[in-house]
Amino acid sequence: MTFVIPVLLFTLIVEALLLMVLGVSRLLLPRGPVTLTINEDKPLEVAAGESLLNVLYGQEIYIPSACGGKGTCGYCKVTVRKGDTTPLATELEFLSMAERDAGVRLACQIRLMESIHIALPPEILSAREYASTVKAVRDLTPTIKEITFELSPEDHLDFACGQYVQVRIPNDQSPEGFVFRAYSIASPSTERGIVTLNVKLVEGGIGSTWLHSLRPGDPVLFTGPYGEWAPDPARHLVLIGGGVGMAPMRSIILSLLAERPDQRISLFFGARTESELLYHDHFSVLMKDQPRFSYIPALSDAPKSTWEGETGFIHQVFLRRFDEPGETTQAFLCGPPPMIDGALTALEDLGVDEDAVFYDKF
Ligand SMILES: Cc1cc2nc3c(=O)[nH]c(=O)nc-3n(C[C@H](O)[C@H](O)[C@H](O)COP(=O)(O)OP(=O)(O)OC[C@H]3O[C@@H](n4cnc5c(N)ncnc54)[C@H](O)[C@@H]3O)c2cc1C
Ligand code: FES
Repeated sequence: MTFVIPVLLFTLIVEALLLMVLGVSRLLLPRGPVTLTINEDKPLEVAAGESLLNVLYGQEIYIPSACGGKGTCGYCKVTVRKGDTTPLATELEFLSMAERDAGVRLACQIRLMESIHIALPPEILSAREYASTVKAVRDLTPTIKEITFELSPEDHLDFACGQYVQVRIPNDQSPEGFVFRAYSIASPSTERGIVTLNVKLVEGGIGSTWLHSLRPGDPVLFTGPYGEWAPDPARHLVLIGGGVGMAPMRSIILSLLAERPDQRISLFFGARTESELLYHDHFSVLMKDQPRFSYIPALSDAPKSTWEGETGFIHQVFLRRFDEPGETTQAFLCGPPPMIDGALTALEDLGVDEDAVFYDKF
């Protein structure tokens, strides 16, 4: 008898807790489908509970997502017009105050619990998936490969120099069976049937290891193109970078030399040793043929006996060698973070307008 009351009390408490959990989960869990409205289009009925990023991909709307939905790249921005506009703590570092006020959020961090209306710019809506085959693979440096994909003859990719694509990498560990990784296009925008990438092997890296294993004839899917940058034809364009930062810079040089007869371009490219100077012979020859183009490579770890070019860090070489006024200069920087930071300071010292400087760190 002495046990009956405590047992009854215990059972009552457990049941009360169960009812509370059920009540809360009914409030939190989505019920039935919700609608997704994009711009002024007709609302689409979509499954509730999914991330907005996955729902958009399911609708073949390929917004940028360089980290594959982990919330670490900040690329998958959408403007929420109606719905939950409050960003999660994980989103804050990627959103400026103006973006927060405008309802911008990261699509991978929005779980669709209620109907939502979002705005997407037309260039994002025109990104699509492309099927290609590997046309050629060659070593550029001991760790960087040049990989060229070829589209089918009836297809082509319209892109602007400086843009990037996202390659779909097969991956058993992810629930979808694949992840996306971003790679800058290294080929000129005048060649629309092929896409060339420069891929650096990252030890243990999912995407770079798979890409380095590709052979001619292998199928590859990618989405794009992504990224915005519009060079000013009236300003001298300075490109400063290193490593695979070469990829967008090569596309910019080859595209603009072909498309803009008056564009002046100077490439400052830094590496540790000569074996890391991508496309060195090609750019050395191009400089002789094209008076509008100059190429200044520099080595930070050069053997004095064999290297006759510039030495030291590339931003220091830029300050030493570049003698044009900052007001008529624009810059595109791409390379490892410390190099970009040094180049940004150098450009500031020269008086280049902040809004005439574009950079990508990777
Ligand atoms: C817009 C954009 C354009 C890019 N363009 C290029 C390009 O043209 N060429 C190119 O090679 N890469 C480029 N990248 C980087 C590329 O998207 C991948 O991040 C990179 O290839 C590593 O991916 P992974 O899957 O091999 O490594 P993961 O599997 O993602 O990472 C494996 C491990 O390596 C670490 N790691 C990741 N990246 C690096 C790195 N660069 N150096 C050292 N450690 C790292 C990670 O922290 C992790 O611990 C670009 C990135 C962006 C956002
Ligand atoms: S996909 Fe990278 S932050 Fe959303």
